[in-house]
Amino acid sequence: MELVGRMLDGSIAYGDRQRLEPVPSAASIRQDEKMDRLENVPLFEACTRRQLRALAQIADCFDAPTGTVLIRAGEPGEEFFLIVEGTARVHVSARKRLRLRPGDFFGEMSLIDGEPRSATVVAETPLRLLVISRKNFSALFEKVPDMSRTLLTTLSRRVRQAERALDLSRRA
Ligand code: CMP
Repeated sequence: MELVGRMLDGSIAYGDRQRLEPVPSAASIRQDEKMDRLENVPLFEACTRRQLRALAQIADCFDAPTGTVLIRAGEPGEEFFLIVEGTARVHVSARKRLRLRPGDFFGEMSLIDGEPRSATVVAETPLRLLVISRKNFSALFEKVPDMSRTLLTTLSRRVRQAERALDLSRRA
């Protein structure tokens, strides 16, 4: 299980600022603030107010210092991440890195296909994240089928970027 998952189920301690681990947000985000953030994310634009409220309840807020490895390529994936504040780097290949910004999400691929994580994702700045577990993500997906359109668009864009990166590294 991944870092955040192990923190959520209590099998590892958190809160030690010396370690590069996400910690539950100290400035706990109010439910209505979570909803404001969530309703401005394109992925969730098809959600009703009721679904957004449910989403705000199931999404856990975490802070991660710069340098935190949130996802490691090749490991099994258990969570979906949405950036509330800060930026993260996706290490698509040895030569290609992409920046994700507030409103962007990551970690969806392993939750969709059950395969290991496709890339490593690292906090480029201090990050505030909303984290949704695999189980809740699947339930949400079933309740809001329109989410699949945005997910597919994002996935297609990511495949193209990955192929371009592969192409460039083959030519180098
Ligand atoms: P997942 O494979 O679960 O874990 C790594 C994540 O990095 C992946 O989901 C995507 O969210 C993200 N990712 C992988 N490849 C790209 C890419 N080419 N562009 C942007 N994000 C990516």
